[in-house]
Amino acid sequence: MASQTYPGLQGRTAIVTGGAKGIGAACVQILAEQGAKVAILDLDYELGNSLAHEAGSECIAYELDVSNSSLIREAIRKITEQLGLPTLLVNNAGIGHYGTVVETTDEQLDRVLDVNLKSYFFCAREVVPHMLTAGMGSIVNVASVQSFMSQKRVAAYCASKAGIIGLTRAIAVDHAPSIRCNAVCPGTVDTPMLADAISELPDQEAILQECRDMYLTKRIAEPMEIAQLVTYLLSDLSSFITGQAIRIDGGIGLEIGGSVQD
Ligand SMILES: NC(=O)c1ccc[n+]([C@@H]2O[C@H](COP(=O)([O-])OP(=O)(O)OC[C@H]3O[C@@H](n4cnc5c(N)ncnc54)[C@H](O)[C@@H]3O)[C@@H](O)[C@H]2O)c1
Repeated sequence: MASQTYPGLQGRTAIVTGGAKGIGAACVQILAEQGAKVAILDLDYELGNSLAHEAGSECIAYELDVSNSSLIREAIRKITEQLGLPTLLVNNAGIGHYGTVVETTDEQLDRVLDVNLKSYFFCAREVVPHMLTAGMGSIVNVASVQSFMSQKRVAAYCASKAGIIGLTRAIAVDHAPSIRCNAVCPGTVDTPMLADAISELPDQEAILQECRDMYLTKRIAEPMEIAQLVTYLLSDLSSFITGQAIRIDGGIGLEIGGSVQD
């Protein structure tokens, strides 16, 4: 199905966190098509494993909570044994949470930061030494348009997503030139996360239409579009890009309005 070739991925070992569904699953699909060996790290073993089977013999699903640093250490040890030194990392696992700072409890804040930000730190900490040994590596951190702007009542999520941008720059600075690290910052994407977010609301089609209308493109993104940017940033096509936060957001928030015509 791959219509595009991304040089430099063939035979390399890639790790995708949250790779069982949504954006992560689309990344797994393209990476496998490009001849990479892929490790899926996800809570959902059943979906991850069935995707791994579809993707081919050199794709393995590992069931774990990526917010647990010891489990990550152990999984990366196994991946190195089973698939070889990882030199590609997609930090993607994430959860949403609605609440202002006043409404968000310690437990809720911890959970969002643990999954959305600390897991990215933990995975990089385990994988960077392997990349340095191999003399090459590319890391892509999936952030959000909410790294830069904010809906109402997403305080913890926004804090986690803004933190990813700083982490991305720090990794790029510390481990250049052999490792590059970039962030992708999507607007709304049609994934199970979006479906979950609106599942309790009364008029879901009206909410989706409102969502589409916020974008200059008048639509939301498909997971594959985000995965293509992630894969581009992993590949040699982007070898002069590092430390960047790249928005893939249908131009949301650019229009300043006003009544003067043409
Ligand atoms: N969907 C959107 O509109 C959107 C927009 C901007 C950014 N993002 C970001 O993109 C990334 C992927 O989002 P998605 O929409 O594909 O989400 P999704 O919910 O569809 O898929 C996320 C995957 O991560 C896994 N996961 C969640 N917590 C985990 C944990 N603790 N350990 C291991 N696996 C875990 C889930 O099982 C699932 O397979 C997230 O970081 C999200 O914040 C999504």
